[in-house]
Parts: sequence; C-alpha cells; structure tokens
Amino acid sequence: MPDSTEQQPPRRVVTDNLVSLQSFILEEETRYPGASGDFSWIISAISLAAKIIAHKVRHVRLQNVLGEDGTINVQGEDQLHMDVIANEVIMRVLGGRGSIAVLGSEEEEQPTILRRGHEGGKYCVLFDPLDGSSNLDTAVGVGTIFTILRNDPKIHGAVETVCQAGHQQVAAGYVLYGSSTVFVITTGRGVHMFELDSSIGSFMLVQSNIQMPASKKIYSVNEANAEGFPEGFQKYLKWAHQNGYSSRYIGSMVADMHRTLMNGGVFLYPPTKKHPNGKLRLLYEANPMSFLVEQAGGASVTAAGQRTMDIVPSQMHERVPLVLGSKNEVAAVVAHL
Ligand code: AHG
Ligand code: MN
Ligand code: MN
Repeated sequence: MPDSTEQQPPRRVVTDNLVSLQSFILEEETRYPGASGDFSWIISAISLAAKIIAHKVRHVRLQNVLGEDGTINVQGEDQLHMDVIANEVIMRVLGGRGSIAVLGSEEEEQPTILRRGHEGGKYCVLFDPLDGSSNLDTAVGVGTIFTILRNDPKIHGAVETVCQAGHQQVAAGYVLYGSSTVFVITTGRGVHMFELDSSIGSFMLVQSNIQMPASKKIYSVNEANAEGFPEGFQKYLKWAHQNGYSSRYIGSMVADMHRTLMNGGVFLYPPTKKHPNGKLRLLYEANPMSFLVEQAGGASVTAAGQRTMDIVPSQMHERVPLVLGSKNEVAAVVAHL
C-alpha cells in the first residue's frame, strides 16, 4: 500500500483533452503580469468569427452563396460572395471588441479605425477573411489568416499604424476549413493547434509546440508560372526534379502552408510575369505565415533571400515574393537564387 501521506495523483476516468482555445489563451495571458484580458477577448472574437465562417463555408450550396459577388476588390480580383460574407462577419464580430484600434482586411482598400489609443485601442488586427476562396466551388480547403499588432497611439494614420515589420507581430494564426476545422496560432511562444469540436462548439487543443521537420523533399509552387520565374528559381526546380522531390500544390495558401507546417517541405510563390512582386500580400498572408513557420523552427525569405519578417511595409496591400518552410529546404532554394 502506498504511504498514505504521499500525495497521489487524482484517479482519472475522463481521458479526452479538456483544454479549449479560450482556456489556453487565458493561461498564456497569466504569464504577462498586468495583462488586462484585452488580448484574450480578441482571440475569442476571432474564434467566434471562425465558427460562423466554418458553418457558412460548409453550406455554401445550400445557402446559395457560391460564385461571384459582381464587385472587384482592391486587389483587382473578382470578389466572391463568400469573400464579402467572411469579411463582414469578421469586421462585425471584431468591431465590437473594445481593445481593437484598427482593423485591416484584404477585401477593403483602407484599414478601418475603430477607436484611437486613448480610447482603449491597444491592438490592430489584419486579416485575409477567406484565403483560397477560388477553391470553394470544388469544395477544396480554404482558410482565414489573421495577425495581431500593437497600436501606437502616437501614430495617426491607420495605414502607417499597421505597416509594421513582421517581427513586431504580437500573435498570428489561421483557421483551415478542411476535412477538419483547425485553428493554428502562435503568440511568440511556440505554435499550437486546436480542432473544432462542433458538438460542444469549442476549439480544443490537439497539438502544442509544433516543430517542422528540418528537411522534407516536397516543394509547393504553381509550376504553370515557371516560365516567368527568375532564373534561380528555375535552376532550383531543375535540381529538385533531379533529387527525388515530389510536388504538392493545392492553390489555397492556408492548405498548402498547413501541410508544410505539419509534414515539412517548402512553399514558394516567386515573381511571375503577372505578379512581378509575387502574388501574396506581405501584411496579412506572408507575415502571419512567416511568424508561424519561424516559431515552428522553419524559415521565411523573399526572392532576394531577405528574412520576410524584417521587411518594413509601406503599403497595406503590398505583395512579396515568398519562400517559406523547413529550414534546410529554404536554404536549398536560396542556394540556387
Ligand atoms: P485569396 O483567395 O485570399 O485571394 O488567396 C489566394 C492565394 C493563395 O491562397 C494561394 O496560395 C494563391 O492565391 C494561389 O495563386 P495561383 O492560383 O496563382 O497559384
Ligand atoms: Mn489569400
Ligand atoms: Mn482572401
């Protein structure tokens, strides 16, 4: 019989995990003395918006919201009904949270000022409300990407406020509406993944401190654009073909990046004839994904080999050529540039 004075661990019959995104973030926040709970409120708003969008994405045909909205967004792209819907859901859910000063969206030309620093706006949130939305009509995985920055009350312009280098991000993450609905986030202390348990309506912790393999022979690029790639990228692809690499490309950055984060490999969107600066946007696609990849032990650089998160943006929707993923796989690309 164990010594009765020894503290025995409690007998457990409930084996499933009981940590929700909410409790995880609250726990994280206790590590920051003086934290006011503002940050957790923002994450809970993003989580609520994600659950609403997930439901709508999974019923687009029943709700008759497939197809184009008939408007062109600031990117010069045809907006889809779901782009507009997802954008409105996030703007309205986050707009109600007192700690947000500025909201910026891929779908809106200018950032929206909700309140200024002295009115309590401590943070700015930028997002791609629906990434890969062109895949909705074939029921392929799409996602939402978000990044949280500090608001500097001394800066007056909304664009100047949000044009911060990626290394200044407070938190970043994405929601993948795939075969599961997964929420992946970093606050600078590792990458953590939650899965939506629809029966209780909560994102539940399923993996902590995700670390990418340092090497994996998978590259992810739209090879149809290869003719327009700078020579170094064409040399890299030839090398990869000769060294047993396989290719995976879904065409939704969130889906391609989730596979890269989980299994390793390298994702590339180089300069092309149509997009000489690459297609992906620095502030709300490249930077959040780069933060996650670096926190998972990977790397993220531009076509010139510069660390993506060191770039100081000058415009809200500026694009950047991108190479990100497993450390050794990014190095193999850079070696050919
Ligand atoms: P969005 O749907 O938010 O405009 O993003 C689409 C992006 C990204 O998801 C994906 O990696 C890329 O477009 C695919 O571009 P190509 O079709 O040119 O390969
Ligand atoms: Mn996108
Ligand atoms: Mn989008």
